[in-house]
Amino acid sequence: MSDLTEEYERRTPESRRLFEEAGAVMPGGDTREVTYFDPYPTFVEEASGCTLTTADGEELLDFLNNYTQAVLGHAPPAVVEAVTERFARGNGFAAPTREATDLAERIVERTPSVESVRFANSGTEATMNAVRAAIAHTGNDHVLKLDGAFHGTHDTVLVGVTGDGRENPGIPRNVEERVSTVPFNDADALVEAFERLGDDLACFIVDPIMGNAGVIPPRHDYLETARDLTEDADTLLVFDEVMTYRLAEGGAQERYGVTPDLTAFGKFIGGGLPCGAFGGREDVMAVFDPVRGSVTHSGTFNGNPTTMAGGLATLDALDADAIDRINDLGATARDRLDEVCADADLPVQVTGDGSFFNVHFTDEEVVDAATSTTGHESSGGPTEQFFLALRNRGVFVARRGLMNVSTPMGDAEIDALVDAFEAALSDVAPAVAAEVD
Ligand SMILES: Cc1ncc(COP(=O)(O)O)c(C=O)c1O
Repeated sequence: MSDLTEEYERRTPESRRLFEEAGAVMPGGDTREVTYFDPYPTFVEEASGCTLTTADGEELLDFLNNYTQAVLGHAPPAVVEAVTERFARGNGFAAPTREATDLAERIVERTPSVESVRFANSGTEATMNAVRAAIAHTGNDHVLKLDGAFHGTHDTVLVGVTGDGRENPGIPRNVEERVSTVPFNDADALVEAFERLGDDLACFIVDPIMGNAGVIPPRHDYLETARDLTEDADTLLVFDEVMTYRLAEGGAQERYGVTPDLTAFGKFIGGGLPCGAFGGREDVMAVFDPVRGSVTHSGTFNGNPTTMAGGLATLDALDADAIDRINDLGATARDRLDEVCADADLPVQVTGDGSFFNVHFTDEEVVDAATSTTGHESSGGPTEQFFLALRNRGVFVARRGLMNVSTPMGDAEIDALVDAFEAALSDVAPAVAAEVD
């Protein structure tokens, strides 16, 4: 057992006990694959602002924020108040409520490409329904996506999710026949894919910054090329802004100046309650109109008023000033982490944009899933060890090295991250050097 694991186990006996108890009734001891890490994950009791309190009584500085969901930090008072007030007046009717319209209006105001929007319960449902709308609208059923892109857990988008050709045993084989993948940031490969598939394509779905593959920003013109090709092929460009909507009031599409036909939203869009949304051109979204269209979209919890109230309170707080502030803090963090990496004499770098970023243990330029070290690195590799080293030093990030800034953070939290990052790099230096040899 490594020193890092030994130290982790010393700190977390109660998490181990809870994990063993959970494992008796849930495969893998949890109900969400991404929370697992070796030897067992930390159980969290509660959280406030940017601090997590664990079952072992530790306090961790949260730079993961539930994979970018908790953009206002944990238990933000205005959201807690709005949600509590709405829930107390009754929740969950088989009837529309004014809160869904209010949140839809807010998204439409902030996002010029979105003329019409629907709500669902997760980012998965958001991308699933966006793809379904594209298929219904175009009459085509082939979907193009990026190698290694994660858009949730429905069949279509799980094709190619690992980016390394690994099989995905739960997916019907015939789904793979109608999904193709291309590497991110390679305009030539995209042109070639459109020459081959253009007439059959329902859509090209892309996260404008590849989030889960390692927070990889788009190269200059890549998204414009995607826009031109989809337009020429008379097919739809779908932006998955589940993670990137935090980058500007109008998301990555505003930051990069490219207008998609459809957009998927998630994470903070319901104020921390389970929520997704998808929207875009009115003529495309009309497929969901029970009078004009014929695509089924229903769900017991769609547009749940408490969730909608949480989303409204969150978007109220996440105005342009708040976004500028966390983007600036993110830029400062990246600059300072770049310096730490440059001084470390190790193959390590940080990628990202705005308020989110990722560490990669490589010298090669990270432009796609193949050059990212988050997806294909073996379990126990440098990124995972680095994660554990940071965790032992009181900073919680993703096991794959994803980090992001929340609004309660300030200079003190960036200082704490940079200090822990530098120390954790020393902790893993021998392992990284061995991996490189
Ligand atoms: C870019 C992206 N799309 C879709 C999803 C799926 O969202 P959910 O986990 O809410 O189903 C995620 C989740 O992390 C994501 O990062």
